[in-house]
Amino acid sequence: MSREELTKIILPEDKVPRFWYNVQADMPNPMEPGLNPQTHQPLTPSDLEPIFARELIAQEVSTERYIEIPKEVRELYKQYRSTPLFRARALEKALDTTCHIYYKYEGVSPVGSHKLNSALPQVYFNKLQGIKRITTETGAGQWGTALSLACRQFDVEAMIYMVRVSYTQKPYRRSIMELYGGKCVPSPSNLTESGRREQEKNPDTPGTLAMAISEAVEDALSREDTNYSLGSVLNHVCLHQTVIGQEARLQLEMADDYPDVVIGCCGGGSNFAGIAFPFIPDKIKGKNIRLLAVEPTACPTLTKGVYAYDFGDVIGLVPLLKMYTLGHDFTPSGIHAGGLRYHGESPLVSRLYHDGLIEAVAVKQNATFAAAMLFAQTESIVPAPESAHAIRAAIDEALKAKEEGIKKTILFNLSGHGHLDLFSYDRYLSGETEDIEFSEAELQESLKNLPIV
Ligand SMILES: Cc1ncc(COP(=O)(O)O)c(C=O)c1O
Repeated sequence: MSREELTKIILPEDKVPRFWYNVQADMPNPMEPGLNPQTHQPLTPSDLEPIFARELIAQEVSTERYIEIPKEVRELYKQYRSTPLFRARALEKALDTTCHIYYKYEGVSPVGSHKLNSALPQVYFNKLQGIKRITTETGAGQWGTALSLACRQFDVEAMIYMVRVSYTQKPYRRSIMELYGGKCVPSPSNLTESGRREQEKNPDTPGTLAMAISEAVEDALSREDTNYSLGSVLNHVCLHQTVIGQEARLQLEMADDYPDVVIGCCGGGSNFAGIAFPFIPDKIKGKNIRLLAVEPTACPTLTKGVYAYDFGDVIGLVPLLKMYTLGHDFTPSGIHAGGLRYHGESPLVSRLYHDGLIEAVAVKQNATFAAAMLFAQTESIVPAPESAHAIRAAIDEALKAKEEGIKKTILFNLSGHGHLDLFSYDRYLSGETEDIEFSEAELQESLKNLPIV
């Protein structure tokens, strides 16, 4: 078969990356340090050690270009990596485009998304230093599921605070977390001081990722044997996800192709970082390639937020990070892409966006579901609503190229499947999903509470 005819491109197991790619080695401008939330002084490892594993703290600030993936983690990656790269032939045909559209499918992981790529190493490094229990937050439930499985693999207890609106919309996510042995409660909960305070102040809150983070961190701080784990945003999480883009590069080589544009949906930024960062060195060397992050109009962190130091959680327990933010008090509407409802953005993605190396676009909820439906009816996969944001942007890129009479190679990351998001699809099919307008007034209100640094 000629390379041009390939539809499903699989990398042999011995070609699966043995190293994570660290974009910090190549960034034109260095990162600004995280700050201690109380003193506002640059973080030291001892600020982070009460909740994070030492190895993960080292990865957070490392500027080594390649960091070796431990053998124990590679063994577990083998169960689902490499993930396939598909040429979206049926979608191309439906769009009547000459563009080549490829998608990297992370939904083949046992938990249905890219999140396991970071859950496995995070739990591994915690286990190495004797941690017995890990707390975390989860939005749509994909991260909580991944952490729950990773904890099972390394015999560590998992405690998951799930944003209330998603807990209600996606009850089977909780079932999976519990099947793997994790414990999952809706956030805000009654188990923590921050959760109780929030419930008193705002009894009908749908919850936010920032609130769930506060609860998980408070819990971790209260026990010696417990650490906290975050499913996105931080440098080490983005680092772990770079297996995606490194594989995709090699797979595109197998198809004798190279992308003009690389697309990923963007919540905290980790799957976008995963697919896009391994192309940053080419971009810096002047290659004509665009890296495009896609967010919902209901939570437009990069496209409407400000670049400033802000808290990652509601009550200011986690470090201050320099990032694009809508303000840590911002409560995005209860849209169906729960994993994209985060007020902030990965500091790495933020810095690269600020420096003009990546672009961002915001898309509306109904147009996103329409893209997901077209994708399901052509490529057969039901995408996670989060991932559908990348599909929307990929389709828009192809349609624009058609209008301009040009041919492009488009690569996007299909970060997960949507088999447990059918509540959301039902809502869309019965015409009940809204195009939530982002409120400038609300933003200005929540930006008032940005910390003064
Ligand atoms: C399938 C899927 N894609 C994307 C995201 C967004 O997270 P990130 O921006 O870290 O990839 C989530 C988060 O829950 C998710 O579940």
